[in-house]
Amino acid sequence: GRPGVGRAHGKAILLGEHAVVYGAPALVMPMPQLTVTVHATRFACPGDGADKISFAIAGQHPAPVTPLVTDGLRYLVEKFRERAAVAGRMCADVLIDSGIPQGRGLGSSAACARAAVLALADAFGRPLDAAAVYDLVQASETVAHGRASGIDALATGATAPLLFRGGSARELPITMSGGPSRFDGVFIVADSGAGGSTKEAVELLRDRFEQDEKIKEAFVRRVSELTTAALRDLDDGRLTGFGARLTENHRLLRDLGISTEPIDAMVEAALAAGGLGAKITGGGLGGCMIALAGDPGQAEAVAHGIEAAGAVRTWVVPVGRFASHD
Ligand code: PMV
Repeated sequence: GRPGVGRAHGKAILLGEHAVVYGAPALVMPMPQLTVTVHATRFACPGDGADKISFAIAGQHPAPVTPLVTDGLRYLVEKFRERAAVAGRMCADVLIDSGIPQGRGLGSSAACARAAVLALADAFGRPLDAAAVYDLVQASETVAHGRASGIDALATGATAPLLFRGGSARELPITMSGGPSRFDGVFIVADSGAGGSTKEAVELLRDRFEQDEKIKEAFVRRVSELTTAALRDLDDGRLTGFGARLTENHRLLRDLGISTEPIDAMVEAALAAGGLGAKITGGGLGGCMIALAGDPGQAEAVAHGIEAAGAVRTWVVPVGRFASHD
């Protein structure tokens, strides 16, 4: 029969990474241009009585340095069987076609898991509700990375930026395509070209905070204030205010040792090129940065500035607020 299909996309954290692990709110936006598509093609199970799910990666020869097929994805298949109450045996070829660079804080692992679960649900005729999909993706993320704020599991399926707080999220009344709107921010996401380990970064902060509880409290309090203020900026269409929150959040993360020299240089270049704000995004110790520009022309100048400072790739993400929400 026809293969089951599942799709998901990448994400970038706007504000609040790391602080979110300690209860602060965070803002995250989907990146619709970074997509993963998974096809799951069932076949007749062989006679030995076992399930057979084989994973393959589309168009990646040689195999990538970071394996895309993780323990998390295998675990996801087991959990899918339980949650979807698949009665018979499960045999399928699962083909992952991912356009999201790995290990850059862009949500590649969660997006692959989400697309895989949707493809399996489609192939085996067991549609799942949003909560079940989230639970499965989150379980797979926890096995793969041993961390679990849940922000990636949600954002890789969201159609608008999310305010994430205490394990749940609400969609902000903002479009991902820009206009028609009086709030027309353009985000530039840039890859430093170096992989970062979110796990290591989370552990680094845990050690630091264990040594000095006050540093943790100050960080979490200030980031919470920044996110709250940024929400007001969004409501009022204050792009420059929003940009300033980004830059302050970067400085806090940098002072805790989460940034890298190349990323600091990209942040400074974004500001020098007229960006309204810039910061590292995601787990850090490498990975990506994000900048805010006031309009598409400025976004182009900012992207060029960041590239000149060493970015290997940039993406432009227009974000606008529905005029009807004004
Ligand atoms: O997946 P990343 O690299 O974008 O990092 C997620 C954000 C953290 O706050 C660092 C970790 C978490 O689980 O929330």
